[in-house]
Amino acid sequence: MTKRLSNKRILLGVTGGIAAYKSAEICRRLQDEGAEIRTAMTSAAQKFITPLTLQALSRNPVHLDLLDAQTESAMGHIEVARWADLILIAPASADFISRLAQGRSDDLLTAICLAADCKVVVAPSMNRSMWEKNATQNNMGEIQKRKIKILNPDEGDQACGEVGVGRLMEVRNIVNALSEMFETHSLSGKQVLVTAGPTREAIDPVRYISNHSSGKQGYAIAEAAMEAGAAVTLISGPTNLPVPARVKIVNVESADEMLEKTLSIIESTDIFISVAAVADFKVESPASSKIKKTGELKLSLELSKTPDILLEISKLNGRKPFTVGFAAETENLIKNAEKKLREKDLDLIVANNVSDPTIGFNSDLNEVTVLGHQLHKTFPKSSKKTLARNLVVVIAEKCLDSISYG
Ligand code: PMT
Repeated sequence: MTKRLSNKRILLGVTGGIAAYKSAEICRRLQDEGAEIRTAMTSAAQKFITPLTLQALSRNPVHLDLLDAQTESAMGHIEVARWADLILIAPASADFISRLAQGRSDDLLTAICLAADCKVVVAPSMNRSMWEKNATQNNMGEIQKRKIKILNPDEGDQACGEVGVGRLMEVRNIVNALSEMFETHSLSGKQVLVTAGPTREAIDPVRYISNHSSGKQGYAIAEAAMEAGAAVTLISGPTNLPVPARVKIVNVESADEMLEKTLSIIESTDIFISVAAVADFKVESPASSKIKKTGELKLSLELSKTPDILLEISKLNGRKPFTVGFAAETENLIKNAEKKLREKDLDLIVANNVSDPTIGFNSDLNEVTVLGHQLHKTFPKSSKKTLARNLVVVIAEKCLDSISYG
């Protein structure tokens, strides 16, 4: 059976309430669906369940203190916020919700929520009177305005002996709700083709020309498109990444091979997203056996241009897919990307500044500007996965527009 949360990174935040013991079960059930879990606990939560339990279950150290130099140097609160694809606070106490509503950041969990770019989900649990009070309901309204998702509490027997609304939502319903949140349906019925990673151009049987692309951005886009309901094929140069669930992989080495595989399925493709860092040059005549070292201090290789896959696709007569290119630039980012958008006749181009070592090639983070017809939108620095989901939203919207307006 397909795991609905495979490759998802979820930060489980636990606050002080009797339902804190259920966080252990939530952790296990999310893992059953393939999620990777990290946990953070408030000091009140630690009175109800020990960090050791969550550490053992999540197989990761528990984040406990904002001002603990050791934990912060291992993985600080900003890094944790960037690491997560989703933050779930379960159970969320009345006190925590009130602090979240105020935008506080004087403890670790509120600071992580404030720093987060990903979706934040709150599953409240408290005594029924505390839940009903205007103060709590006003706080709930406040956090909902900020697009924080609420998993409303269930009605029933409460640990305090009273009966009413305030019980933590059933664990299996929490897991279902989280799984559904990753599935948007904006690309339902679409065939999406993504290229990712570097290509390798052989010099001889043991050496090659390549680049620093890790494939992370392309794989994240393939996964986000799959979650949006598309049937996704990923043509990938050599990488060390796991293939996202439900994505069809086609492995290639060289630019020539990537072009051949791309052309073989482009006819049935609705959206083509060219994230691959295709080598621009290949060795004209690679040696058939290993080039031996000689007394010579220099070796000359004759290089020729590789095919420009994106250009080939944009020149296709007849059924050309909605085409999205990337522009990896070290200077004049927007100007150069606009030039590629025009010259390659693309629907969209994603301008990526690759001179900043904290983003672009190989980093887990990225920051890009998407350009297209009446579109100039910058996405600030975030994880490549979060960015991929945002890009898929734009691609789905613009692709739909292009169909509506011909
Ligand atoms: O893989 P990561 O480590 O996560 O890094 C992500 C990334 C930096 C590789 C990615 O975000 C990115 O910017 N990809 C485009 C890399 C690139 O080759 O850019 P370019 O400006 O040289 O090429 C422009 C476009 O033409 C790209 O869509 C590229 O895929 C395509 N191209 C380029 C050359 C070629 N021979 N064939 C092509 O199809």
